[in-house]
Amino acid sequence: MNIAKPNSYRSGPDDRGHFGNFGGRFVAETLMPLILDLEKAYTAAKADPAFQGAMNGYLKNYVGRPSPLYFAERLTEHLGGAKIYLKREELNHTGSHKVNNVLGQIMLARRMGKKRIIAETGAGQHGVATATLCARFGLECVVYMGAVDVERQQPNVIRMEMLGAKVVPVQSGTRTLKDAMNEALRDWVTNVHNTFYCIGTVAGPHPYPTLVRDFQSIIGNETKTQMQEIEGRLPDSLVACIGGGSNAMGLFHPFLDDPSVEIFGVEAAGHGLTQLHAASIAGGRPGVLHGNRTYLLMDADGQIQDAHSISAGLDYPGIGPEHSWLHEVGRVNYLSATDDEALAAFQLLSKLEGIIPALEPAHAIAKVMELAPKRPRDHLMVVNLSGRGDKDVPQVGDILRGKSK
Ligand SMILES: Cc1ncc(COP(=O)(O)O)c(C=O)c1O
Repeated sequence: MNIAKPNSYRSGPDDRGHFGNFGGRFVAETLMPLILDLEKAYTAAKADPAFQGAMNGYLKNYVGRPSPLYFAERLTEHLGGAKIYLKREELNHTGSHKVNNVLGQIMLARRMGKKRIIAETGAGQHGVATATLCARFGLECVVYMGAVDVERQQPNVIRMEMLGAKVVPVQSGTRTLKDAMNEALRDWVTNVHNTFYCIGTVAGPHPYPTLVRDFQSIIGNETKTQMQEIEGRLPDSLVACIGGGSNAMGLFHPFLDDPSVEIFGVEAAGHGLTQLHAASIAGGRPGVLHGNRTYLLMDADGQIQDAHSISAGLDYPGIGPEHSWLHEVGRVNYLSATDDEALAAFQLLSKLEGIIPALEPAHAIAKVMELAPKRPRDHLMVVNLSGRGDKDVPQVGDILRGKSK
């Protein structure tokens, strides 16, 4: 494919929300005024030092940022190659990177005078972060969650309910994240006047992929400063898992114009790329879903196919539009890891570093296990540890004891 390289990989999207051939806003007419309102409010907030100052205060004192950049000495020794650093997003309040974006969106919602917040969630981490910030700011919170995910992520369902949110199990389709997002969009169309839709990843109609990326870019910006302090230079490679792609976009974006930095996104290969999986780039093609054009898992007739991953947070048949573009222009390498590889990585990191990762970033660790031994000892590799494994302990415990598969 012959695609022109841009002068900067960081300048997108264009005015209409396009990253090359991807992105845009494919929404019902009723939603268009809302989307335009949101874009206006976001542009104003970005330029407002009071908004930025308030956000920085909450990021520091409520979320607990900056998250550490930790040298994983035992993992490095075990793999015998690159020096591996973990960006510790699992140490954030609520246990994942999701809170960075939710804080930004809830502060925007308050600025726009919205009192009712809706969200969709897969693993439940985005739902927990949304329920948490709604509790903090006294807002009504409704979270749509596929019925299958309600079952496999029980600890997070209980947390959301304790925080005062209403969790609505979605029974349509595969009863996972895609169906929860459909249901949230339906609610939004019906309740446009008072409702803010807090999207959990870099997907959806413009401006969501951009504003979520911007709120998550704190991950990459901190990594740049921290690596400079620890090693006196840029990292040589970055690795992150991809559901919709927000933790990855947040780490990658500040480094896109640094050509010496190799970048790897890791999709979920489920049972394998020729079977059931959730790898939209490796096994999909461009189409339109949830308000934007991007790589999707589709059958020959263009119908969205069922995605599968052991990890509820990666179980989505699409990917954010900016990733689709970065794939086509060749700036980011997209790899994939199977359920079994992720499980092995989950156990390895727990035993070697005393850190139980969520199943999502375990996919990134699985690829680090392949990439790191092939790199020299002075190669600096950063992996985004996007969340902690507490929510997955019951599920992984059952699998390891042979109760379910
Ligand atoms: C810990 C964790 N990491 C990663 C993801 C995947 O989302 P994204 O690709 O937007 O970072 C999720 C989604 O729920 C998650 O909970």
